[in-house]
Amino acid sequence: MGKVVVCDHPLIQHKLTYIRDVETKTKDFRQLVDEVAMLMAYEITRDLPLQEVDIRTPVCPTKGKVIAGRMLGLVPILRAGLGMVDGVLRLHPTAKVGHIGLYRDPETLQPVEYYEKLPSDVHERELIVIDPMLATGGSAAAAISLLKKRKCTQIKLMCLIAAPEGIEAVHSEHPDVDIYVAAVDERLNEQGYIVPGLGDAGDRLFGTK
Ligand code: PRP
Ligand code: URA
Repeated sequence: MGKVVVCDHPLIQHKLTYIRDVETKTKDFRQLVDEVAMLMAYEITRDLPLQEVDIRTPVCPTKGKVIAGRMLGLVPILRAGLGMVDGVLRLHPTAKVGHIGLYRDPETLQPVEYYEKLPSDVHERELIVIDPMLATGGSAAAAISLLKKRKCTQIKLMCLIAAPEGIEAVHSEHPDVDIYVAAVDERLNEQGYIVPGLGDAGDRLFGTK
């Protein structure tokens, strides 16, 4: 079974509190989400393989370690996933970025796909699917299924906040996928929103309502 890693570094918890706060306006919300994504990227890429290289310091020849040639791909789920892309790219500027457009039908809560554009070598890459809110888990599970249909095998899921229901749903469909979150909240409410959560991530990121 995939693991759930809660990235609970004090800086992440501090910033997440302001992200949740209803008083936080779009500009600060966007900046904080970006910063948390960068901090989480540090944890998510902890297992990247290294290779030894020969270098020279100004003093003498020596050996160093650099990230081995494993290729990374980021797959944000539109729209809200976009808010976490730049933060990850700051640490991994060579990653390619594919996009999957899904929205959650407000009545059925089922994901509806409307866009897909992926790198041509996506199946060769180690992928991080990015979706700030793991609520019912329907959107994330559908995005992962789509990637598996494209023959992708190495997939991690990165979220800001998850409901236990969302974790359960993703892991029952995709037990091979590790989930990285900044927090696991209490539950979903009747409208399928995470409690206490942060409200609608897309609307708060882009100032729509
Ligand atoms: C939100 C959020 C996730 C999804 C999570 O997207 O960004 O993608 O809901 O819900 P789920 O786990 O129950 O599927 P939304 O449909 O609001 O679209 P948006 O990102 O374009 O605002
Ligand atoms: N999507 C959001 O943006 N927030 C939630 O709490 C649930 C789904």
